[in-house]
Amino acid sequence: MRIDHIGYAVKRLDRARAAFEALGFRFEEPVEDPDRNVLLQFGGKDGVRIELVAPLDKTLPSPVDSYLSKLGPTPYHFCYGTEDLEGEIESLEQMGFRVTVPPAPAVAFGGRRVAFMMNLGLGLMELVED
Ligand code: NI
Repeated sequence: MRIDHIGYAVKRLDRARAAFEALGFRFEEPVEDPDRNVLLQFGGKDGVRIELVAPLDKTLPSPVDSYLSKLGPTPYHFCYGTEDLEGEIESLEQMGFRVTVPPAPAVAFGGRRVAFMMNLGLGLMELVED
């Protein structure tokens, strides 16, 4: 597995982007993912890739709500790229990780599948197929 990005829960994409840009980050165009009710924007600096994740429709539940209400804007997952999604999930399960969101195509990755897993030691992680 390689580290693909660090997911950052934010309330407002524009405000978060401006703050990261002030630190030297550069961003791609934002992407709407209505299936997951999130608005995403990838950016990077010094080879580190980040993903800003904000609620798309604030009147509906989104996967970042609990982080935002408890902590405010915060990093909340590392995403790992893998060539063998099913195989990686299987070996992670043997190491005590459990699937919280099964593999499904993601618009932010051009239809490549992503899955989320949870571990008591490190919390949430994301997997994306390469
Ligand atoms: Ni992510």
